[in-house]
Amino acid sequence: MAKKIIITIDGWSSCGKSTLAKQLAKELGYVYVDSGAMYRAITLYFLRNNIDLAEKKEVKEALKSVSLEFVFNPKRNNSEIYLNGENVEYLIRDLVIAEKVSDVAAIKEVREFAVAQQKKMGDKKGIVMDGRDIGTVVFPKAELKIFMTADNAVRVQRRFKELYDKNPNITIDEVKNNLEMRDYIDSNREISPLRKAKDAIELDNTSLTEKEQFNKAFSWAKERMKIK
Ligand code: DC
Repeated sequence: MAKKIIITIDGWSSCGKSTLAKQLAKELGYVYVDSGAMYRAITLYFLRNNIDLAEKKEVKEALKSVSLEFVFNPKRNNSEIYLNGENVEYLIRDLVIAEKVSDVAAIKEVREFAVAQQKKMGDKKGIVMDGRDIGTVVFPKAELKIFMTADNAVRVQRRFKELYDKNPNITIDEVKNNLEMRDYIDSNREISPLRKAKDAIELDNTSLTEKEQFNKAFSWAKERMKIK
């Protein structure tokens, strides 16, 4: 019999973390949690309410009015994030959010708010969560930790394609600048910067197909699920 485990997937922006996480969760019958969506939804709330990120008190007060929930949408076969009862899954993918989210995610109070909820989601195991600090801070004892990387040019192309489908006015330079800025802030912030956990397996998918990448990760998961 297989035991239920926790799988964490961390790495740089646009490395394909969520694609792999979703595939693994589907194959294993696990819950998939996109932790970045939580930071994006908080960013949306802050932007809508003109919250001054430099004002700690204002940020703390605002967080009291933020309620986040993931609801499974069977039509899309995907978990979608709700902000105070509103489905914001698609709104939060906008470049306007991407431009602010790293600053919001660097705030201590915001991280405490999100991490507390993420930890609870892993209570029953059987979960795949992707983000930046999942293997280092949220689930330091996870049975399988994957750290994803890919060449910058490949990541820019992937993100560009994703965003271009929604907004044909977008330029490669805008996407490139945004990725570089987020990587810089995410890996240089004071609290829980993006780091590879010591016991994480590095997965560079620059020249791997989705199938090859999945096969590797799935075999690692199966190995960790064996009852010892
Ligand atoms: O994975 P993503 O691009 O949707 O994440 C959006 C931002 O949120 C990213 O720039 C960094 C931040 N983030 C974080 O700090 N910690 C996480 N666990 C997940 C995301």
